[in-house]
This record gives sequence, C-alpha cells and structure tokens, in this order.
Amino acid sequence: MTDTSTQHVPVLFEEVLAQLNPQPGQVLVDGTLGGAGHARALAQRVAPNGRVYGLDRDRRAVEAAQKVVGDLPLTPLWGNYRDLKLVLRDVGVSQLDGALIDIGLSSDQLADATRGFSFMADGPLDLRFDATEGFPASEIVRKKGEQDLADLIYRYGEERHSRRIARAIVERRRDKPIETAGDLAEIVKKAVPRTPDADRIHPATRTFQALRIAVNDELGALETFLRDAPECVRTGGRVVVITFHSLEDRIVKEAFRDDARWTPLTKKPITATEAELARNPRARSAKLRTAMVNQLAGMPTA
Ligand SMILES: C[S@@+](CC[C@H](N)C(=O)[O-])C[C@H]1O[C@@H](n2cnc3c(N)ncnc32)[C@H](O)[C@@H]1O
Repeated sequence: MTDTSTQHVPVLFEEVLAQLNPQPGQVLVDGTLGGAGHARALAQRVAPNGRVYGLDRDRRAVEAAQKVVGDLPLTPLWGNYRDLKLVLRDVGVSQLDGALIDIGLSSDQLADATRGFSFMADGPLDLRFDATEGFPASEIVRKKGEQDLADLIYRYGEERHSRRIARAIVERRRDKPIETAGDLAEIVKKAVPRTPDADRIHPATRTFQALRIAVNDELGALETFLRDAPECVRTGGRVVVITFHSLEDRIVKEAFRDDARWTPLTKKPITATEAELARNPRARSAKLRTAMVNQLAGMPTA
C-alpha cells in the first residue's frame, strides 16, 4: 500500500478480507470509508474490472480518500450508509456482491481538535460526523432534563455513574453554558469517583460516546442499513459489520438471526487477536459479524 495521511489503523483487517472474500470483478460497498484502509484493500482485490464504492458521512474522510485513490477502482462518496438504496440508485448500480460497515469513530476524527470528539482537545462540543445535519451535542447538554440526560448517558454510554454526571451537568449549566468538549470532560471527571482504570480510560469516555451515538442517530442508521442491505446485495453475497458497542452488536446479532433474508455465518462475533491488540488497542471492543443474503428481495425502483 502507498502512504496515506490517515492515522487510522483498520481493525480486523485480515478477518474482513477473509469474511468478505472479494474477487476480481466484484462490486462492493464500504459504508464507512474512514481512512480507507479496508476500502483500498478491497479495491485491490476487485481490480481491474470491479469497483468499491466507499461512503462516509464525514466530508473530510471522503476528500482525504480522493487523494489516495490513484489507479484503484475505488469511488469515495459523501453519504450515509443508512441511504444505501438511494446511493446505489444514484451511481447506477443495481446489485452488490457484498458490503462492509465498520462503525463509529476514526482515529482521524479523534485527532481533529475542532469537532469535540476528543476531550483532550478543547474543541466545540459538536460530535457530528456531518455538521450539515441535525444539531451539535452542546444542544443536548444545554436542553435535556436531568432524568433524560441520565437515561441517555446510561443507555448509549453504559455509564454506571450516569445520574451523578447528569446532575453535575444540570448544576453547572445553571451558572454558565457548557460549550466545549474540555468543559464537559472536566465536569464529568469531577462528578465521578476515581476508578483504577482512570489512567487508561478517561472518565468522560462513555459520556462522549453516548452523546455521539445520539447526535448521529447511529443505532437508527445501523437498523436501517440492516433492513435495506438484503435488497441491495445479491443472493449469496456477504455483509460484514464491525461494531464497538454492545448495543450495536446486539442489533446486528438479532437482525442476522431473526430476519429470514439473512443466514448468519459467524455464530460468535470475531474479535481481535492478542497480536492485533498489542499493535492497535482501539481494536479492544471490536466485534465482527458476517451474514449471507438468502434471497433477492428486489432492488430499489428507479
Ligand atoms: C471506524 S471508521 C472506519 C474506518 C475504515 N474502515 C478504515 O479502514 O479506515 C468509521 C467511519 O464511519 C463514518 N460513519 C459513521 N457513521 C456513518 C454513517 N451512518 N454513514 C457513513 N459513514 C459513517 C465515520 O465518519 C468514520 O469515518
């Protein structure tokens, strides 16, 4: 591979290739282009006559990928994987051989101090992948009642100190608005008891994850993708999903198990090897599941 400007190290790289098994001439979608690590490897394998369409909600990821495409049959597109049907219609593709989504946040987004993903950098509390849509996380923190805030942080962040955190947010915002990621990180840090893993994981990690999932409607996007993908992928084609959160993994597991259009090919999720974890600690919570499409339910109509 040629050098790219991305800092993102793709997780479960060999496992994705083994599961998706890309072949020359195939047409694939990578619904989460990110640093294009997976997408470029897929494009190399479907070359010369196949193509990979790489979608990202984040325009910066798409622009960065455009610079490293070179001769590869990879088309970066600004879009949401929840709109898979519409995207395929726009590019004139009637059927895919397979698709991948590797959801969540890329290391490039985390390193971008201007968007609030990292509480180490004092950017605005935004957390949207696509700032042209919806509203920033600062709105949630400004407007939601204490109980709703606690529920959101508990559910999407699996944060057991959610009540204390919600109370601290509400108390603090009475005095002055919470606008930056650094403000919120400080409030959370002071609100929760110090735990032994505090040096490894910042105490605000789960709260930020919860807000990010909420402002980007990440669970809704995943559910819509899983509902529509069997109509876009050919019979026998494979869909690979990598998640980083137990709520997301449950949605994937249940969809693959309960929707008759899928046959799950991974009984248990595939996780990173010790060797990968040593190289890339971000792979710690990654879970990969694969399913095959059983029957063609018809493509989107033009
Ligand atoms: C974990 S990274 C993907 C990394 C990529 N597989 C690689 O090899 O570099 C997740 C990416 O998905 C994007 N993303 C998140 N939700 C999305 C959605 N609903 N539609 C399209 N892209 C999305 C994020 O902007 C981010 O760039």
